Amino acid sequence: MTTHADLSTRLAYAAAFVRGKSGTAPAVGMVLGSGLGPIAERVTRAVAIPFAEIPGVPVSRVPGHAGRLVLGDLATPEGPVPVAIMQGRAHVYEGRPAAEVAFGARVLCGLGVRALLLTNAAGALDPTLAPGDLVRITDHLNLSGQNPLVGENDDRVGPRFPDLTEAYDPALGALLDEAARATGAPLRRGIYACVLGPSYETPAEVRMLRLLGADLVGMSTVPEVIAARHQGVPVAALSVVANLAAGLGGGRLTHDEVQAVAAKVLGRVEALLAAFLPRAARAPREGA
Ligand code: HPA
Repeated sequence: MTTHADLSTRLAYAAAFVRGKSGTAPAVGMVLGSGLGPIAERVTRAVAIPFAEIPGVPVSRVPGHAGRLVLGDLATPEGPVPVAIMQGRAHVYEGRPAAEVAFGARVLCGLGVRALLLTNAAGALDPTLAPGDLVRITDHLNLSGQNPLVGENDDRVGPRFPDLTEAYDPALGALLDEAARATGAPLRRGIYACVLGPSYETPAEVRMLRLLGADLVGMSTVPEVIAARHQGVPVAALSVVANLAAGLGGGRLTHDEVQAVAAKVLGRVEALLAAFLPRAARAPREGA
């Protein structure tokens, strides 16, 4: 029993609200993590909607997360690609249930995108990674203790027990690799451990995460991945290595440093996206 409207109803309502503001039919949805928000400023024919206005989409109070949905076109070498971009995101550590955190990504999926690209800034556990490296996520460890599908399932949106064997779509991953080769930007691969935060890890936790097989650690992305897979939308995810995880680099970790590194690689991320977007926009949508 729930006192709220079903998920499918809330999603349809939010998507209709967005469609009422913008005629863009986005081919690709994106979520921009810490420091990557300026990419949304490049959108032309842009309609920007504050999250606070979209029914059900939570607002983030974290510095570096603007909190707007931007719809329009991103220029690429193959012409403009219609996109829907979340400039910023909410996090579970802000005190919201994972289902709420993931709702914005669900709205992107509800707008009919063929692919969802999630980005974040992460700490490196793999000692061969360095700040500024770009890593495509191939799998995750959800260690946050939270899951956006907890609670009653709405079967109209997705199954009770969704399969996550290929949570990160291999075909989209291959397109990211191809885009990286086309731009000459090295792209690594890694497994992302999602922790609750907001404190950074202790050095002992960092050693544990490495032993568990993770290459990256962060506090986001996984709720959105799970929700998108629940809806059957293919996902790709990209981490910017912001820092070496605690105890590996020597220094102390700060959010300012995380944002500063992401800002430095903005140009490389933009070039990678410009090569990736037309490829992803052409990719057939699962089940379609
Ligand atoms: N740990 C967790 N989350 C992060 C980190 C980190 O080192 N860097 C950026 N986000």
